[in-house]
Amino acid sequence: MTELFDRHRAVLPDWLALYYQDPIEITHGEGRHVWDAEGNRYLDFFGGILTTMTAHALPEVTKAVSEQAGRIIHSSTLYLNRPMVELAERVAGLSGIPDARVFFTTSGTEANDTALMLATAYRGSNQILAMRNSYHGRSFSTVSVTGNRSWSPTSLSPLQTLYVHGGVRDRGPYAGLTDERFTEACVADLEDLLGHVRTPAALIAEPVQGVGGFTAPPDGLYAAFREVLDRHGVLWISDEVQTGWGRTGEHFWGWQAHGENGPPDILTFAKGIGNGMSIGGVVARPEIMNCLDANSISTFGGSPVTMAAGLANLSYLLEHDLQGNARRVGGLLIERLRAIGARADSVRQVRGRGLMIGIELTRPGTTEAAPETAAAVLEAAREGGLLIGKGGGHHTSVLRIAPPLSLTVAEAEEGAEILELALRSA
Ligand SMILES: Cc1ncc(COP(=O)(O)O)c(C=O)c1O
Repeated sequence: MTELFDRHRAVLPDWLALYYQDPIEITHGEGRHVWDAEGNRYLDFFGGILTTMTAHALPEVTKAVSEQAGRIIHSSTLYLNRPMVELAERVAGLSGIPDARVFFTTSGTEANDTALMLATAYRGSNQILAMRNSYHGRSFSTVSVTGNRSWSPTSLSPLQTLYVHGGVRDRGPYAGLTDERFTEACVADLEDLLGHVRTPAALIAEPVQGVGGFTAPPDGLYAAFREVLDRHGVLWISDEVQTGWGRTGEHFWGWQAHGENGPPDILTFAKGIGNGMSIGGVVARPEIMNCLDANSISTFGGSPVTMAAGLANLSYLLEHDLQGNARRVGGLLIERLRAIGARADSVRQVRGRGLMIGIELTRPGTTEAAPETAAAVLEAAREGGLLIGKGGGHHTSVLRIAPPLSLTVAEAEEGAEILELALRSA
């Protein structure tokens, strides 16, 4: 791979990071497996960053894409687009937001950028509340609500962002509290903050932080926030780019772990819905979605080919109850990984739900992050035939496990065995 790696380095930006000392070129996939250009086969526990949601080369999606591509690839939003209307209807119905309107984009970044524009226009304010350790995308507006310095290349911002507590349960000043006290402390912090600032437009939050290392507050925290936000007229944007479509097993959306006070005002999605085709989107109540008084389009957003992929992928997910599979197989996998973690002194915590599992590594006997161990485990897992991800704030010390949602019990078992050996060797 050195030749392609050299060419990559010569022509692409330095900040476009690659995994592995000797990066791999993935040439094809099937089900939960991928192959590299040298013919090595890997069990895929990362799905191209939680994006291959159902399976690699899923025949239903491939067929829908090729049939649509054979009819028409692009027409633009100036003309009626049947697959776009159909997918919007399905997403609106699933969103939990009453009388929902859907706008399709090409990425999660663009979806969050749209959500921020809607919220700031609707509320007439450029103040945004965001969570520490968050990630919401790579554009100028989304970087400025990203509370993770290794993913924030600039502090310049079109927004005034205020970071609140709550996204990280087991680090920071409230880590030692019980769940109930933790929630109370975060709510008190939010309430206090809102007493000091003008009129924030919205709070944006990932129900489970993805890049941040699959960290989450206790269930119900965002419902408790909601009660405070409502009193101040502040909107709640749930960034479901990683948590959507049943990945967390127990819920179809991450916000449903915090649903006592109703759905969010705005929901954003991307990644898994297209199974690799570029679909992002934003869902909102009509008065919020329709508050813009100028035209706005995304030329490629909602393109017929991507929508056909999304429809086929979503149908497959629902018809095969992959949310239930994520709950069942993810439940077994997390138990297995907890048992492995208990025997490995570099594992501080195994956390997550469904098929969104984080293994936090530290220097043995301390709470100090161990990024070099995480990198070594990644390498060793790859040697053993398993692809996983990593993340976790600027320390990058959390292994991230998020396979396609069709993972079988046997594959979960096989992956866990490889990981155990990788942890031991690293
Ligand atoms: C929670 C979350 N929001 C937004 C984004 C940005 O999505 P994209 O990379 O499609 O622009 C990501 C990407 O990792 C994400 O994890």
